[in-house]
Amino acid sequence: MTTLDGVVDLDVSGATINRHLYGHFAEHLGRCIYEGFWVGEDSEIQNSGGIRDDVVQALKDIAVPNLRWPGGCFADEYHWMNGVGPREERPSMVNTHWGDVVEDNSFGTHEFMRLCELLGADPYVSGNVGSGTVAEMSDWIEYLTRSGDAPMSRLRREHGRSEPWKVPFWGIGNENWGCGGNMTAEQYTQLAAQFATYCRNHDGNELYRIAAGPNRDDYHWTETLMKSISSLGGPARTPKHNGWQALSFHYYTHASDDWQHKGSATEFTAAEYHETMVRAWRIDEIVRGHVRVMDAYDPEAAVGLVCDEWGTWWDVEPGTNPGFLFQQNTLRDALVAGLHFDVFHENARRLVMANIAQTVNVLQAMVLTDGARMVLTPTYHVFAMNAGHQDATSHPVQVRSADAAYEGEQGSYRTLTTTVSSKDGSALVSLTNLDVDGPATVRLALRGKVWEVARARVLAAPSVQAHNTVEAPDAVAPAQFDGARREGDTLVVDLPPHSFATVELTLS
Ligand code: AHR
Repeated sequence: MTTLDGVVDLDVSGATINRHLYGHFAEHLGRCIYEGFWVGEDSEIQNSGGIRDDVVQALKDIAVPNLRWPGGCFADEYHWMNGVGPREERPSMVNTHWGDVVEDNSFGTHEFMRLCELLGADPYVSGNVGSGTVAEMSDWIEYLTRSGDAPMSRLRREHGRSEPWKVPFWGIGNENWGCGGNMTAEQYTQLAAQFATYCRNHDGNELYRIAAGPNRDDYHWTETLMKSISSLGGPARTPKHNGWQALSFHYYTHASDDWQHKGSATEFTAAEYHETMVRAWRIDEIVRGHVRVMDAYDPEAAVGLVCDEWGTWWDVEPGTNPGFLFQQNTLRDALVAGLHFDVFHENARRLVMANIAQTVNVLQAMVLTDGARMVLTPTYHVFAMNAGHQDATSHPVQVRSADAAYEGEQGSYRTLTTTVSSKDGSALVSLTNLDVDGPATVRLALRGKVWEVARARVLAAPSVQAHNTVEAPDAVAPAQFDGARREGDTLVVDLPPHSFATVELTLS
Protein backbone atom coordinates (compact mmCIF):
# COMPACT_ATOMS: atom_id res chain seq x y z
CA MET A 1 0.00 0.00 0.00
CA THR A 2 1.39 3.40 -0.99
CA THR A 3 0.19 6.73 0.36
CA LEU A 4 0.19 10.42 -0.38
CA ASP A 5 -0.72 13.00 2.22
CA GLY A 6 -1.31 16.58 1.06
CA VAL A 7 -2.97 19.93 1.70
CA VAL A 8 -5.03 21.95 -0.75
CA ASP A 9 -6.26 25.50 -0.18
CA LEU A 10 -9.44 25.81 -2.19
CA ASP A 11 -9.45 29.58 -1.61
CA VAL A 12 -5.96 29.98 -3.12
CA SER A 13 -5.90 30.04 -6.92
CA GLY A 14 -3.16 28.71 -9.15
CA ALA A 15 -3.15 29.10 -12.94
CA THR A 16 -6.29 28.62 -15.01
CA ILE A 17 -6.22 25.28 -16.83
CA ASN A 18 -6.68 26.28 -20.45
CA ARG A 19 -9.35 24.09 -22.06
CA HIS A 20 -7.07 23.81 -25.08
CA LEU A 21 -4.83 21.47 -23.06
CA TYR A 22 -7.51 18.91 -23.97
CA GLY A 23 -7.01 19.43 -27.71
CA HIS A 24 -6.88 16.78 -30.44
CA PHE A 25 -5.03 16.03 -33.64
CA ALA A 26 -6.30 14.45 -36.87
CA GLU A 27 -3.86 13.79 -39.70
CA HIS A 28 -4.25 12.33 -43.17
CA LEU A 29 -2.68 9.15 -41.88
CA GLY A 30 -4.01 5.61 -42.08
CA ARG A 31 -7.69 5.44 -41.09
CA CYS A 32 -7.87 8.66 -39.09
CA ILE A 33 -9.51 10.99 -41.62
CA TYR A 34 -10.80 8.38 -44.08
CA GLU A 35 -13.03 5.85 -42.28
CA GLY A 36 -12.45 7.52 -38.89
CA PHE A 37 -14.18 10.81 -39.68
CA TRP A 38 -14.97 10.83 -43.38
CA VAL A 39 -17.13 8.11 -44.90
CA GLY A 40 -18.66 10.16 -47.74
CA GLU A 41 -22.23 11.24 -48.27
CA ASP A 42 -23.25 7.93 -49.90
CA SER A 43 -22.05 5.75 -47.03
CA GLU A 44 -24.42 3.42 -45.21
CA ILE A 45 -22.81 4.64 -42.01
CA GLN A 46 -24.95 7.46 -40.65
CA ASN A 47 -23.29 10.74 -41.56
CA SER A 48 -23.77 14.47 -41.90
CA GLY A 49 -22.46 15.61 -45.25
CA GLY A 50 -20.01 12.67 -45.31
CA ILE A 51 -18.78 12.98 -41.68
CA ARG A 52 -19.76 10.06 -39.47
CA ASP A 53 -22.26 10.94 -36.75
CA ASP A 54 -21.24 8.37 -34.11
CA VAL A 55 -17.64 9.59 -33.91
CA VAL A 56 -18.73 13.24 -33.82
CA GLN A 57 -21.19 12.53 -30.98
CA ALA A 58 -18.57 10.62 -28.96
CA LEU A 59 -16.12 13.51 -29.32
CA LYS A 60 -18.72 16.15 -28.52
CA ASP A 61 -19.34 14.26 -25.28
CA ILE A 62 -15.76 14.93 -24.18
CA ALA A 63 -15.90 18.61 -25.18
CA VAL A 64 -13.08 18.60 -27.74
CA PRO A 65 -11.87 22.23 -27.61
CA ASN A 66 -9.74 22.28 -30.77
CA LEU A 67 -8.69 20.02 -33.60
CA ARG A 68 -5.29 20.20 -35.32
CA TRP A 69 -5.19 19.27 -39.03
CA PRO A 70 -3.99 18.21 -41.67
CA GLY A 71 -0.75 16.95 -40.06
CA GLY A 72 1.83 16.14 -38.74
CA CYS A 73 4.35 15.30 -41.40
CA PHE A 74 1.52 15.38 -43.94
CA ALA A 75 1.06 19.12 -43.39
CA ASP A 76 4.41 19.93 -44.97
CA GLU A 77 3.53 18.17 -48.21
CA TYR A 78 -0.10 19.27 -48.35
CA HIS A 79 -1.15 21.83 -50.94
CA TRP A 80 -4.51 23.16 -49.85
CA MET A 81 -5.67 24.26 -53.31
CA ASN A 82 -5.90 20.56 -54.26
CA GLY A 83 -8.51 20.06 -51.54
CA VAL A 84 -11.09 22.70 -52.49
CA GLY A 85 -13.68 22.89 -55.27
CA PRO A 86 -15.84 20.07 -56.65
CA ARG A 87 -14.61 16.78 -55.19
CA GLU A 88 -14.58 14.90 -58.47
CA GLU A 89 -12.25 17.52 -59.96
CA ARG A 90 -9.72 17.58 -57.14
CA PRO A 91 -6.27 16.32 -58.11
CA SER A 92 -4.83 13.43 -56.13
CA MET A 93 -1.39 13.13 -54.56
CA VAL A 94 0.81 10.50 -52.94
CA ASN A 95 0.95 10.50 -49.16
CA THR A 96 4.66 9.70 -49.05
CA HIS A 97 4.92 9.75 -45.26
CA TRP A 98 2.09 7.44 -44.41
CA GLY A 99 1.80 4.19 -46.33
CA ASP A 100 2.67 5.73 -49.74
CA VAL A 101 -1.04 5.65 -50.55
CA VAL A 102 -2.87 7.86 -53.03
CA GLU A 103 -4.78 10.66 -51.35
CA ASP A 104 -7.74 11.83 -53.44
CA ASN A 105 -8.22 15.06 -51.49
CA SER A 106 -11.92 14.38 -50.96
CA PHE A 107 -11.50 15.65 -47.39
CA GLY A 108 -10.20 19.21 -47.68
CA THR A 109 -10.65 22.66 -46.19
CA HIS A 110 -14.47 22.86 -46.37
CA GLU A 111 -14.87 19.34 -44.95
CA PHE A 112 -12.47 20.10 -42.10
CA MET A 113 -14.22 23.34 -41.20
CA ARG A 114 -17.58 21.54 -41.27
CA LEU A 115 -16.14 18.87 -38.96
CA CYS A 116 -15.03 21.56 -36.51
CA GLU A 117 -18.50 23.11 -36.63
CA LEU A 118 -20.11 19.74 -35.90
CA LEU A 119 -17.73 19.16 -33.01
CA GLY A 120 -18.02 22.70 -31.66
CA ALA A 121 -14.20 22.75 -31.73
CA ASP A 122 -11.82 25.53 -32.72
CA PRO A 123 -9.83 24.77 -35.89
CA TYR A 124 -6.05 24.58 -35.60
CA VAL A 125 -4.63 24.50 -39.13
CA SER A 126 -1.00 23.51 -39.74
CA GLY A 127 0.41 25.32 -42.75
CA ASN A 128 3.06 23.99 -45.12
CA VAL A 129 6.54 25.42 -44.61
CA GLY A 130 8.61 22.39 -45.69
CA SER A 131 7.46 22.22 -49.34
CA GLY A 132 5.11 25.19 -49.58
CA THR A 133 5.51 28.89 -50.17
CA VAL A 134 4.77 32.01 -48.19
CA ALA A 135 2.21 33.03 -50.82
CA GLU A 136 0.42 29.66 -50.62
CA MET A 137 0.08 29.94 -46.86
CA SER A 138 -0.99 33.55 -47.05
CA ASP A 139 -3.65 32.72 -49.66
CA TRP A 140 -5.03 29.88 -47.54
CA ILE A 141 -5.57 32.28 -44.65
CA GLU A 142 -7.25 34.78 -46.96
CA TYR A 143 -9.46 31.99 -48.36
CA LEU A 144 -10.52 30.91 -44.88
CA THR A 145 -10.94 34.19 -43.06
CA ARG A 146 -11.52 37.14 -45.40
CA SER A 147 -14.86 38.57 -46.45
CA GLY A 148 -15.52 41.04 -49.29
CA ASP A 149 -14.21 40.94 -52.80
CA ALA A 150 -10.64 39.69 -52.34
CA PRO A 151 -9.44 37.03 -54.83
CA MET A 152 -9.42 34.19 -52.30
CA SER A 153 -12.75 35.15 -50.71
CA ARG A 154 -14.27 35.14 -54.20
CA LEU A 155 -12.89 31.66 -54.84
CA ARG A 156 -14.29 30.42 -51.53
CA ARG A 157 -17.68 31.83 -52.49
CA GLU A 158 -17.50 30.04 -55.85
CA HIS A 159 -16.92 26.86 -53.86
CA GLY A 160 -20.16 27.37 -51.97
CA ARG A 161 -19.23 29.19 -48.77
CA SER A 162 -20.05 32.87 -48.64
CA GLU A 163 -19.14 33.81 -45.05
CA PRO A 164 -15.53 33.53 -43.91
CA TRP A 165 -14.75 31.19 -41.03
CA LYS A 166 -13.01 32.01 -37.78
CA VAL A 167 -9.64 30.28 -37.47
CA PRO A 168 -8.02 31.03 -34.14
CA PHE A 169 -4.96 28.74 -34.32
CA TRP A 170 -2.37 28.58 -37.09
CA GLY A 171 0.70 26.34 -37.15
CA ILE A 172 3.78 27.45 -39.06
CA GLY A 173 4.98 24.07 -40.27
CA ASN A 174 5.48 20.84 -38.36
CA GLU A 175 8.64 19.12 -37.09
CA ASN A 176 10.79 21.24 -39.37
CA TRP A 177 13.83 19.70 -37.68
CA GLY A 178 12.77 16.40 -39.33
CA CYS A 179 9.98 15.48 -41.75
CA GLY A 180 9.15 19.17 -42.23
CA GLY A 181 12.39 19.96 -44.08
CA ASN A 182 15.35 18.75 -41.96
CA MET A 183 16.22 22.31 -40.97
CA THR A 184 18.48 23.66 -38.28
CA ALA A 185 16.97 25.78 -35.51
CA GLU A 186 18.58 28.87 -37.03
CA GLN A 187 17.19 28.21 -40.51
CA TYR A 188 13.69 27.54 -39.20
CA THR A 189 13.69 30.61 -36.93
CA GLN A 190 14.32 32.79 -39.99
CA LEU A 191 11.58 31.07 -41.96
CA ALA A 192 9.09 31.21 -39.09
CA ALA A 193 9.52 34.99 -38.94
CA GLN A 194 9.07 35.28 -42.70
CA PHE A 195 5.99 33.03 -42.92
CA ALA A 196 4.39 34.54 -39.81
CA THR A 197 4.69 38.03 -41.28
CA TYR A 198 2.32 37.08 -44.09
CA CYS A 199 -0.14 35.18 -41.88
CA ARG A 200 -2.46 38.17 -41.81
CA ASN A 201 -5.37 38.94 -39.53
CA HIS A 202 -8.33 39.55 -41.86
CA ASP A 203 -11.67 41.07 -40.85
CA GLY A 204 -11.23 40.68 -37.11
CA ASN A 205 -9.97 37.09 -37.23
CA GLU A 206 -7.01 37.14 -34.86
CA LEU A 207 -4.54 34.33 -35.52
CA TYR A 208 -2.59 32.74 -32.70
CA ARG A 209 0.46 31.71 -34.72
CA ILE A 210 2.31 28.68 -33.41
CA ALA A 211 5.93 28.20 -34.47
CA ALA A 212 7.04 24.60 -34.92
CA GLY A 213 9.32 24.06 -31.99
CA PRO A 214 11.67 21.35 -30.87
CA ASN A 215 11.57 17.63 -30.62
CA ARG A 216 11.43 16.44 -27.01
CA ASP A 217 14.20 18.12 -25.01
CA ASP A 218 15.96 20.09 -27.74
CA TYR A 219 16.30 23.24 -25.64
CA HIS A 220 18.65 24.80 -28.18
CA TRP A 221 15.73 24.97 -30.67
CA THR A 222 13.53 26.66 -28.08
CA GLU A 223 16.26 29.11 -27.15
CA THR A 224 16.96 29.99 -30.79
CA LEU A 225 13.29 30.80 -31.36
CA MET A 226 12.98 32.72 -28.10
CA LYS A 227 16.08 34.83 -28.85
CA SER A 228 14.30 36.10 -31.96
CA ILE A 229 11.20 37.48 -30.22
CA SER A 230 12.63 40.93 -29.49
CA SER A 231 13.34 41.45 -33.19
CA LEU A 232 9.73 40.53 -33.98
CA GLY A 233 8.43 43.61 -32.19
CA GLY A 234 8.32 42.72 -28.51
CA PRO A 235 5.92 40.65 -26.46
CA ALA A 236 3.96 38.17 -28.53
CA ARG A 237 0.49 39.54 -27.85
CA THR A 238 1.06 43.26 -28.48
CA PRO A 239 -0.44 44.76 -31.67
CA LYS A 240 3.08 45.74 -32.78
CA HIS A 241 4.19 42.13 -32.70
CA ASN A 242 4.74 40.84 -36.17
CA GLY A 243 5.57 37.21 -35.62
CA TRP A 244 4.34 34.11 -33.83
CA GLN A 245 2.67 33.93 -30.43
CA ALA A 246 3.60 30.44 -29.27
CA LEU A 247 5.99 27.60 -29.95
CA SER A 248 5.21 23.92 -29.91
CA PHE A 249 7.10 20.75 -29.04
CA HIS A 250 6.35 17.03 -29.42
CA TYR A 251 6.87 14.20 -27.00
CA TYR A 252 5.84 10.56 -27.48
CA THR A 253 6.05 7.70 -24.97
CA HIS A 254 7.42 4.30 -26.07
CA ALA A 255 8.54 1.27 -24.09
CA SER A 256 12.02 1.22 -25.63
CA ASP A 257 14.57 3.29 -27.57
CA ASP A 258 14.47 0.88 -30.49
CA TRP A 259 12.29 2.52 -33.13
CA GLN A 260 11.75 -0.87 -34.81
CA HIS A 261 10.46 -2.42 -31.57
CA LYS A 262 8.48 0.12 -29.64
CA GLY A 263 6.59 -2.62 -27.83
CA SER A 264 3.15 -4.16 -28.20
CA ALA A 265 0.12 -2.09 -27.21
CA THR A 266 -1.51 -4.99 -25.38
CA GLU A 267 1.06 -7.76 -24.74
CA PHE A 268 3.57 -6.12 -22.45
CA THR A 269 5.60 -7.35 -19.50
CA ALA A 270 5.90 -5.75 -16.07
CA ALA A 271 9.36 -4.51 -17.11
CA GLU A 272 7.87 -2.82 -20.20
CA TYR A 273 5.16 -1.27 -18.05
CA HIS A 274 7.80 0.30 -15.75
CA GLU A 275 9.87 1.38 -18.76
CA THR A 276 6.75 3.09 -20.13
CA MET A 277 6.08 4.97 -16.93
CA VAL A 278 9.70 6.10 -16.54
CA ARG A 279 9.50 7.48 -20.08
CA ALA A 280 6.03 8.98 -19.65
CA TRP A 281 7.27 10.91 -16.61
CA ARG A 282 9.93 12.57 -18.79
CA ILE A 283 7.15 14.90 -19.94
CA ASP A 284 7.49 16.61 -16.56
CA GLU A 285 11.20 17.34 -16.92
CA ILE A 286 10.79 18.34 -20.61
CA VAL A 287 7.93 20.79 -20.03
CA ARG A 288 9.81 22.37 -17.13
CA GLY A 289 12.99 22.52 -19.25
CA HIS A 290 11.26 24.46 -22.05
CA VAL A 291 9.53 26.68 -19.50
CA ARG A 292 12.90 27.55 -17.93
CA VAL A 293 14.35 28.60 -21.29
CA MET A 294 11.24 30.63 -22.16
CA ASP A 295 11.17 32.31 -18.74
CA ALA A 296 14.68 33.64 -19.34
CA TYR A 297 13.55 35.58 -22.45
CA ASP A 298 9.91 36.19 -21.59
CA PRO A 299 9.32 36.25 -17.82
CA GLU A 300 5.72 37.45 -18.23
CA ALA A 301 4.82 34.28 -20.19
CA ALA A 302 3.47 36.24 -23.16
CA VAL A 303 4.68 33.49 -25.50
CA GLY A 304 2.71 30.29 -25.09
CA LEU A 305 4.11 26.77 -24.96
CA VAL A 306 2.12 24.16 -26.90
CA CYS A 307 2.60 20.39 -26.86
CA ASP A 308 0.77 19.64 -30.09
CA GLU A 309 1.68 15.97 -30.34
CA TRP A 310 1.83 13.68 -27.32
CA GLY A 311 0.82 10.17 -26.38
CA THR A 312 1.92 6.55 -26.59
CA TRP A 313 3.40 5.08 -29.76
CA TRP A 314 3.53 1.27 -29.93
CA ASP A 315 4.14 -1.27 -32.69
CA VAL A 316 1.18 -1.40 -35.07
CA GLU A 317 -1.41 -4.12 -34.48
CA PRO A 318 -0.29 -7.37 -36.15
CA GLY A 319 -1.55 -7.68 -39.71
CA THR A 320 -2.19 -3.94 -40.18
CA ASN A 321 -0.37 -1.58 -42.57
CA PRO A 322 2.87 -0.45 -40.83
CA GLY A 323 2.40 3.02 -42.35
CA PHE A 324 -1.04 3.43 -40.78
CA LEU A 325 0.03 3.46 -37.11
CA PHE A 326 -3.06 1.66 -35.86
CA GLN A 327 -2.69 0.48 -32.25
CA GLN A 328 -4.92 -0.80 -29.46
CA ASN A 329 -5.26 1.14 -26.23
CA THR A 330 -5.19 -0.38 -22.73
CA LEU A 331 -5.54 0.82 -19.18
CA ARG A 332 -1.77 1.52 -19.35
CA ASP A 333 -2.47 4.18 -22.02
CA ALA A 334 -5.17 5.69 -19.82
CA LEU A 335 -2.70 5.99 -16.93
CA VAL A 336 -0.14 7.65 -19.21
CA ALA A 337 -2.87 10.16 -20.12
CA GLY A 338 -3.76 10.78 -16.45
CA LEU A 339 -0.11 11.47 -15.63
CA HIS A 340 0.33 13.82 -18.61
CA PHE A 341 -2.71 15.85 -17.62
CA ASP A 342 -1.43 16.34 -14.08
CA VAL A 343 1.87 17.61 -15.50
CA PHE A 344 0.05 19.86 -17.99
CA HIS A 345 -2.16 21.31 -15.25
CA GLU A 346 0.85 22.05 -13.04
CA ASN A 347 2.45 24.01 -15.87
CA ALA A 348 -0.70 25.79 -17.01
CA ARG A 349 0.84 29.23 -16.53
CA ARG A 350 2.96 28.73 -19.66
CA LEU A 351 1.50 25.61 -21.31
CA VAL A 352 -1.57 26.83 -23.17
CA MET A 353 -2.43 23.96 -25.48
CA ALA A 354 -1.80 20.25 -25.98
CA ASN A 355 -3.01 17.84 -28.66
CA ILE A 356 -3.07 14.10 -28.19
CA ALA A 357 -1.95 12.08 -31.21
CA GLN A 358 -4.32 11.15 -32.67
CA THR A 359 -8.10 11.29 -32.36
CA VAL A 360 -9.34 8.23 -34.29
CA ASN A 361 -7.66 4.95 -35.35
CA VAL A 362 -4.08 6.27 -35.09
CA LEU A 363 -1.64 6.02 -32.14
CA GLN A 364 -3.22 6.84 -28.74
CA ALA A 365 -6.73 7.27 -30.11
CA MET A 366 -9.98 8.18 -28.37
CA VAL A 367 -12.05 6.14 -30.76
CA LEU A 368 -11.37 2.99 -32.81
CA THR A 369 -13.67 2.15 -35.70
CA ASP A 370 -14.37 -1.13 -37.41
CA GLY A 371 -16.71 -0.54 -40.34
CA ALA A 372 -19.92 0.84 -38.90
CA ARG A 373 -18.89 -0.05 -35.35
CA MET A 374 -17.05 2.16 -32.93
CA VAL A 375 -15.18 1.53 -29.65
CA LEU A 376 -14.27 4.09 -27.01
CA THR A 377 -10.78 3.53 -25.61
CA PRO A 378 -9.67 3.73 -21.96
CA THR A 379 -7.90 6.99 -22.90
CA TYR A 380 -11.23 8.41 -24.06
CA HIS A 381 -12.62 7.82 -20.58
CA VAL A 382 -9.79 9.81 -18.95
CA PHE A 383 -10.64 12.76 -21.24
CA ALA A 384 -14.31 12.37 -20.27
CA MET A 385 -13.69 12.10 -16.53
CA ASN A 386 -11.25 15.04 -16.59
CA ALA A 387 -13.44 17.34 -18.72
CA GLY A 388 -14.35 19.41 -15.65
CA HIS A 389 -10.76 20.71 -15.45
CA GLN A 390 -11.21 22.62 -18.73
CA ASP A 391 -10.96 26.37 -17.97
CA ALA A 392 -11.05 25.65 -14.23
CA THR A 393 -8.80 27.26 -11.61
CA SER A 394 -6.09 24.93 -10.37
CA HIS A 395 -5.35 24.57 -6.66
CA PRO A 396 -1.79 23.38 -6.08
CA VAL A 397 -1.44 20.27 -3.92
CA GLN A 398 1.23 20.70 -1.23
CA VAL A 399 2.52 17.22 -0.56
CA ARG A 400 3.25 16.69 3.17
CA SER A 401 4.48 13.14 2.74
CA ALA A 402 4.42 10.46 0.08
CA ASP A 403 5.86 6.98 -0.09
CA ALA A 404 4.53 6.29 -3.54
CA ALA A 405 7.45 5.49 -5.81
CA TYR A 406 8.74 2.67 -7.97
CA GLU A 407 12.44 1.90 -8.10
CA GLY A 408 13.87 -0.81 -10.28
CA GLU A 409 16.08 -1.68 -13.21
CA GLN A 410 14.21 0.69 -15.51
CA GLY A 411 14.70 3.68 -13.18
CA SER A 412 12.37 5.29 -10.70
CA TYR A 413 9.08 7.14 -10.90
CA ARG A 414 6.34 8.51 -8.67
CA THR A 415 3.31 6.23 -8.62
CA LEU A 416 0.70 8.67 -7.35
CA THR A 417 -0.31 11.88 -9.00
CA THR A 418 -3.27 14.23 -8.56
CA THR A 419 -4.89 17.51 -9.66
CA VAL A 420 -7.46 19.64 -7.84
CA SER A 421 -9.33 22.40 -9.67
CA SER A 422 -12.57 24.30 -9.22
CA LYS A 423 -15.10 26.27 -11.22
CA ASP A 424 -18.75 27.28 -10.93
CA GLY A 425 -19.23 26.13 -7.33
CA SER A 426 -17.72 22.69 -7.68
CA ALA A 427 -14.29 21.11 -7.51
CA LEU A 428 -12.79 18.17 -9.36
CA VAL A 429 -10.08 15.93 -7.91
CA SER A 430 -8.29 13.55 -10.30
CA LEU A 431 -6.08 10.77 -9.00
CA THR A 432 -3.82 8.36 -10.89
CA ASN A 433 -2.35 5.28 -9.21
CA LEU A 434 0.46 3.98 -11.41
CA ASP A 435 1.33 1.18 -8.98
CA VAL A 436 0.73 -1.81 -11.17
CA ASP A 437 0.39 -4.26 -8.25
CA GLY A 438 -0.72 -2.35 -5.21
CA PRO A 439 -3.58 -0.19 -3.96
CA ALA A 440 -2.93 3.35 -2.75
CA THR A 441 -4.48 5.81 -0.33
CA VAL A 442 -4.51 9.55 -0.93
CA ARG A 443 -5.40 11.89 1.94
CA LEU A 444 -6.00 15.53 1.00
CA ALA A 445 -6.83 18.13 3.65
CA LEU A 446 -9.13 20.48 1.72
CA ARG A 447 -9.16 23.92 3.34
CA GLY A 448 -10.69 27.31 2.67
CA LYS A 449 -14.15 26.21 1.48
CA VAL A 450 -17.02 24.10 2.78
CA TRP A 451 -17.27 20.98 0.61
CA GLU A 452 -19.23 17.75 0.12
CA VAL A 453 -18.47 14.70 -2.02
CA ALA A 454 -21.01 14.76 -4.86
CA ARG A 455 -19.84 11.89 -7.07
CA ALA A 456 -16.84 9.60 -7.46
CA ARG A 457 -15.90 7.45 -10.45
CA VAL A 458 -13.11 5.00 -11.12
CA LEU A 459 -11.50 3.57 -14.25
CA ALA A 460 -10.04 0.21 -13.26
CA ALA A 461 -9.79 -3.39 -14.43
CA PRO A 462 -8.30 -6.62 -13.09
CA SER A 463 -5.40 -6.36 -15.56
CA VAL A 464 -3.51 -3.29 -16.78
CA GLN A 465 -3.56 -4.90 -20.26
CA ALA A 466 -7.38 -4.65 -20.30
CA HIS A 467 -8.78 -2.92 -23.38
CA ASN A 468 -12.01 -2.44 -25.27
CA THR A 469 -12.98 -4.23 -28.48
CA VAL A 470 -16.14 -4.35 -30.55
CA GLU A 471 -16.91 -7.68 -28.83
CA ALA A 472 -16.26 -6.26 -25.33
CA PRO A 473 -16.65 -2.47 -25.63
CA ASP A 474 -16.89 -1.85 -21.87
CA ALA A 475 -14.05 -3.97 -20.54
CA VAL A 476 -12.55 -0.68 -19.31
CA ALA A 477 -15.22 1.89 -18.53
CA PRO A 478 -15.84 4.36 -15.70
CA ALA A 479 -17.84 2.99 -12.78
CA GLN A 480 -19.40 4.47 -9.66
CA PHE A 481 -16.73 4.50 -6.96
CA ASP A 482 -17.20 3.94 -3.24
CA GLY A 483 -13.52 4.44 -2.38
CA ALA A 484 -13.83 8.18 -1.61
CA ARG A 485 -14.92 9.45 1.81
CA ARG A 486 -14.68 12.44 4.09
CA GLU A 487 -12.82 12.31 7.42
CA GLY A 488 -13.14 15.73 9.10
CA ASP A 489 -11.64 18.23 6.66
CA THR A 490 -9.81 15.46 4.79
CA LEU A 491 -10.81 13.73 1.56
CA VAL A 492 -9.60 10.13 1.76
CA VAL A 493 -9.49 8.09 -1.44
CA ASP A 494 -8.58 4.39 -1.58
CA LEU A 495 -7.46 3.59 -5.12
CA PRO A 496 -7.25 0.10 -6.60
CA PRO A 497 -3.99 -0.91 -8.34
CA HIS A 498 -3.36 0.68 -11.78
CA SER A 499 -6.40 2.93 -11.69
CA PHE A 500 -7.60 6.43 -12.44
CA ALA A 501 -10.35 8.08 -10.40
CA THR A 502 -12.16 11.39 -10.16
CA VAL A 503 -14.04 12.87 -7.21
CA GLU A 504 -16.46 15.75 -7.75
CA LEU A 505 -17.14 18.06 -4.82
CA THR A 506 -19.81 20.68 -4.31
CA LEU A 507 -18.41 23.87 -2.76
CA SER A 508 -20.16 26.47 -0.65
O1 AHR B 1 1.61 11.54 -35.24
C1 AHR B 1 2.38 10.87 -36.19
C2 AHR B 1 3.59 11.67 -36.65
O2 AHR B 1 4.46 11.85 -35.58
C3 AHR B 1 3.32 13.08 -37.12
O3 AHR B 1 2.93 13.13 -38.45
C4 AHR B 1 4.66 13.73 -36.94
O4 AHR B 1 4.55 15.11 -36.72
C5 AHR B 1 5.27 12.98 -35.78
O5 AHR B 1 6.57 12.59 -36.03
